[in-house]
Amino acid sequence: MIGRKRILTGDRPTGRLHLGHYVGSLRNRVRLQEEYECFFIIADLHMLTTKNAREDIDQTADNARGLVLDYLSAGIDPNKSTIFLQSAVHETYELALLFGNLVTVPRLARLPSIKDMARAALMDEETIPFGLLGYPVLQAADILLPRAHLVPVGKDNQAHVEITREIARRFNNLYGEVFPIPDDLVEGDTLPGTDGQGKMSKSMGNAILLSDDAATVRKKVHGMYTDPNRIRADIPGTVEGNPVFTYLDQFDPDKALVEDLKTRYRAGKVGDVEVKERLAQSLNAFLDPMRERAAVYSRENGLVDEIIFQGTTRYREIAAETLRDVKKAMGLSSTFNRIARKAEERQKKLAKSNAATS
Ligand code: TRP
Repeated sequence: MIGRKRILTGDRPTGRLHLGHYVGSLRNRVRLQEEYECFFIIADLHMLTTKNAREDIDQTADNARGLVLDYLSAGIDPNKSTIFLQSAVHETYELALLFGNLVTVPRLARLPSIKDMARAALMDEETIPFGLLGYPVLQAADILLPRAHLVPVGKDNQAHVEITREIARRFNNLYGEVFPIPDDLVEGDTLPGTDGQGKMSKSMGNAILLSDDAATVRKKVHGMYTDPNRIRADIPGTVEGNPVFTYLDQFDPDKALVEDLKTRYRAGKVGDVEVKERLAQSLNAFLDPMRERAAVYSRENGLVDEIIFQGTTRYREIAAETLRDVKKAMGLSSTFNRIARKAEERQKKLAKSNAATS
């Protein structure tokens, strides 16, 4: 389809995705790919801003495969959307360097997200590398390279899209209209962890992975945090803020049954085990279609790699076109063209005089 608006978003390849990712972003992306031309970036260069040991880099191919398999399982369709590896697109590095001149150091240094990422990586302010300060600049290059119109991101990345807009405006003002000004689409939905302590996150060990098998899901559900005051099934329980019911609300399609469970829970007329057994069943029913898709994509050895490879190859053409326009608008291509022309003239003249004297 021609003329669809473009979306760019993606993830760093640091591990498998969980139900929180599904609720927060994946299901949204699956929907958006019907209406937009979607590009999904495996942001391995962004990973380097906090994790750049050789062993981490060697893990990237496997992590990327896992991430993409989760995308595909969730319903991202490689015939509709493009999935690509950031580090394989050299235009990304080039554009990020050029964009570095269009934003000030204090503007970047003020961002809470940079400090948060530094803290999460156990860095103190003195050891923040230039690359981490430039994280949003690299992200601006990701977003503007395909000239995306819309960027679905979590709250923590909203300021980065704002910086992207500032860079796009500044570029267009200085050199001419090359970029659309992208909008962000904030994905606010979060899911609590199985421990009831804040967001679901792999590093907290409170996540149910999209790739967990049925037995693992059951085990995790039966170990979930519930109302701690409820030491017996006949004690009235609290539904609000109870992650077991939060998950049931999210993933169980039988609303009447969930309401009945809540009523009985509040009245002390149902045990935790029965509620959790229902949740394990609903989650497994929800994950089954994903498992089937994962099986299809995993069955053929190399299929996921082929999807990444072909997506990256397709993406490179788009990237090259934008970078050509960027260098032309900035006058960078004519700088070298003038020099090349002069050098060529001299070579021709030399060749001629050599021919005359021999
Ligand atoms: N910053 C995103 C993260 O938190 C990953 C990312 C890199 C991204 N480039 C992007 C997201 C461009 C949206 C658009 O992992």
